[in-house]
Formats: sequence, structure tokens, C-alpha cells
Amino acid sequence: MKLPWLSAVLLGVKSVTALAPITAIGNKFFTPDGKQFFIKGIAYQLTEDDPLIDTEQCTRDAELMKTLGTNTIRVYHVDPKSDHTECMKVLDNAGIYALIDLDTFDTYINPNNPSWDQRQHDRYAEVMDAFITYDNVLGFFVGNEIITQHSQSAAAPFIKAATRDMKAHRDRKGHRQVPIGYSAADIAELRPMLQDYLTCGGNSSEGVDFFALNSYEWCDPSTYSTSGYANLQAEAKNFPVPIFFSETGCNVPGPRLFEDQAAIFGPEMVNDWSGAIIYEWIQEANNYGLISYGPVPPATAAEDGTNVKGGFSRRGTPTPVLPDFENLKTQWANVKPTGIEKKDYEAGKGVSTRACPTSTQGGWLINGNVKLPAVGETFKGEFTTAPSVTVAPTASPSAGSGGQQGGGEGASKKNPAPANRVVLKGMVAGLVGVMVIFLVWL
Ligand SMILES: *[C@@H]1O[C@H](CO)[C@@H](O)[C@H](O)[C@H]1NC(C)=O
Repeated sequence: MKLPWLSAVLLGVKSVTALAPITAIGNKFFTPDGKQFFIKGIAYQLTEDDPLIDTEQCTRDAELMKTLGTNTIRVYHVDPKSDHTECMKVLDNAGIYALIDLDTFDTYINPNNPSWDQRQHDRYAEVMDAFITYDNVLGFFVGNEIITQHSQSAAAPFIKAATRDMKAHRDRKGHRQVPIGYSAADIAELRPMLQDYLTCGGNSSEGVDFFALNSYEWCDPSTYSTSGYANLQAEAKNFPVPIFFSETGCNVPGPRLFEDQAAIFGPEMVNDWSGAIIYEWIQEANNYGLISYGPVPPATAAEDGTNVKGGFSRRGTPTPVLPDFENLKTQWANVKPTGIEKKDYEAGKGVSTRACPTSTQGGWLINGNVKLPAVGETFKGEFTTAPSVTVAPTASPSAGSGGQQGGGEGASKKNPAPANRVVLKGMVAGLVGVMVIFLVWL
């Protein structure tokens, strides 16, 4: 009798502490027991290298994240060949899910010379296969801020092709239905088109399972209506899939009050948004940190890329950056969205379908529902039209929306670029050539 009793206890313990996989249904995330899930997240990338292989460090960080009220982290760069078991367990024990970017520095879709090839496919798939075994993986991104200029919108079908193939890979391998989506730069002139494009066409094998936005529009003190969030909300109303902030937390002028959290989880937005990820955990040159690993030790500790890099400590005991850390903690403690129960939610109801945007001169470049590139196809200057699977869209709230031209949008440009964007920003050189191609094309 002893053994069954013991295993019952162990099972009981497991069901209490282990996180269960999240699924995307309609435009909401749900836990298996039918509760709607809202992201209270932190961007977690300590150096350019995978932070989920250093058990000591992720343990120290997860403990402090837990006190902050974090339930999700986002990690931009991981090494699929390393073992993540311990860090994923530590996160799980702290009640924290992970969103993982499938791409990294040498595999992302280059917007100035877009392609989606077998090498990229296999490297993305390798990351998925390495992480899918952990139930507390919330989802995967196929790209981060790939498109930041009108002239780069020709990369959008490649982003959708990557989504298609990663969903196919997931299903072929018999993986669970882990959500796969995209993290967009907040560019007013591109955002409505991109979010509609990635969800249009009526074929769920090709569209994203969620759309996320890196937005620095709300700079405290601000309000729902003056920040630009009212406009984001108008475009997100009844969105076809879950939508959330994959980065937020404007630091101009600082200190940050994170009052946008009350808006995101409040009555204006909570029916359409699934939460927010705050940029970012570590304090570094861009001054977005919620914690610091203390002063750089004197001379003895050289820039070794692991403990010290760019003049900042990258490892050690995390110490809250004040008052920002406490401000966020208070904000999150004050918002306790319950959302809707899965049993009361009809996925198709109250969810719009989006029309594939039409191209405009000098603006969005993809006209309607184009045929997606196959693996190995490069951009040849134009796309052929493909018929949409469904009939006419039920809603297109983003049509004609000009977006925010005001302070919010500008503020993010005034900020030093967060570290993860450096590579993208460095690629502007290729832009001129691409523009020439487009001129010919148009
Ligand atoms: C949906 O997309 C998948 C993947 O591209 C494709 O194989 C399938 O034929 C499409 N379905 C329809 C009805 O067009």
C-alpha cells in the first residue's frame, strides 16, 4: 500500500506546482483548466547568449521575478544544443512561462533581402524541438521587428511562410498545439497592415496564432487616450487571435510608473489584449533595467562577455532598480484580470476576420493575399495573388487608421535602441538597393 500512496502524493504535488500548457483559442489564451491566461512578462536576455543554461543565475532571477508578480519571460536568443531542463524547471516552480524566439542573429529573416530557406527552417525547428518538451513554454516567435520600413514590407510573406512551416513542423512532429506568432515593431504606418496581413487569408495553417507588439508609446505620466493606446485598442478590437505587448515600458523621462499596465488590464483593453512583457530585466546602457547585478568589479574582472559586458555586470545577485521595480510590482499587484472562462467562450464569436491589405504607392507593398514563398524561394520583385479561403471579412477596424504620429511613437525613437534591435538597425545599408528594386517594381 505504501507505493500507491506515495505516488498519489507525488502526483498531487505535481498537479499543484507544475504549470500546464497554454493554448490559444479564438483571441484568448487559456490554461487547460479553462481559465483565461494574461501575460505579466519580463524580457530576459542577459548577454547575447542563452540565459536558460545557467542554473544558478536563472534560479536567483526567477526567485526575484516571482516576488514581482511575473508569470512569463521572453528570451530572444537560445542555443538549442544546450540543456535547459534545470532553468525551465526553476521557472516552472516560480510559476513562470517562457516565450522563446525561434530565430537568432544568423537565422532571422533579413528584411532587405528576404528569404526563407532550408537552413533557417531547420534552425528554427531545432529550437522548437529543444523547448517543446517543457510544458511552461507558452509560445514561439518566428521573428522580432523584422519590418521597420515601408520598403521592407515585402518580407511579410516570408514571415508568414516561416509561420506556415513552423506550424506544419509542430503538427508533423506531433508536438502539442503550442502557439506560434510574431513580435512587431510599433510603426504606425505599418502596424495595421502587418497585423491584418499575418492573420488574413482565412487559412489557419498559414496565419499566426498570436500577434505581439513592441510598443513604447506610453511614457509616464500619460493616459489611455493621450498615449496612443486608444488607437492601438481600436486596431485590436475583436482581433482574430490573441494580441499582446511583447515589449513595453518607455523610460522617458523616468522613473517608470508602469501605469499603462492598469490600462492594458483595465476595462478599455482587457477584453482584447492578453497582457504585456516589460522591457527588460537587466540594467544596461539603454537604461531599461528592472534589476542590476551591481557595479562592475574593479580591474580584475575584465570584459569577459559573460560576467561583464558593455560596462555592466551580467551575472550575480539581482538587485531591484528603484523605484521602477517597486512601481511595476505595485501595478501588477493591483491588476487581477480574470477574463472569461473557456466554457463560456465561443471562439468564433466576437472575433473579426481581417482583409488582406492592399498595396499603396510608397507604402505597404503586398497586394492582397499573395501566394506564400516556398522554402528556399527568395524575393523576385513581386508576388502572385492567391485567393483567400474564406468569404468577405466581417470587420476591418484598422482601415484608414493613420496611427499615432505624436509623442509616444517619437519617444521610442529617441531612446537608445534596446540591445536586441541592434542587428536590425545595422542593416539599413541594404535598404537603398531594395528601394531601387521596388521603384522598378512599382
Ligand atoms: C492552407 O494552407 C496550407 C499550407 O500552406 C495548404 O497546404 C492548404 O492547402 C491550404 N488550405 C486551403 C483550403 O487552401
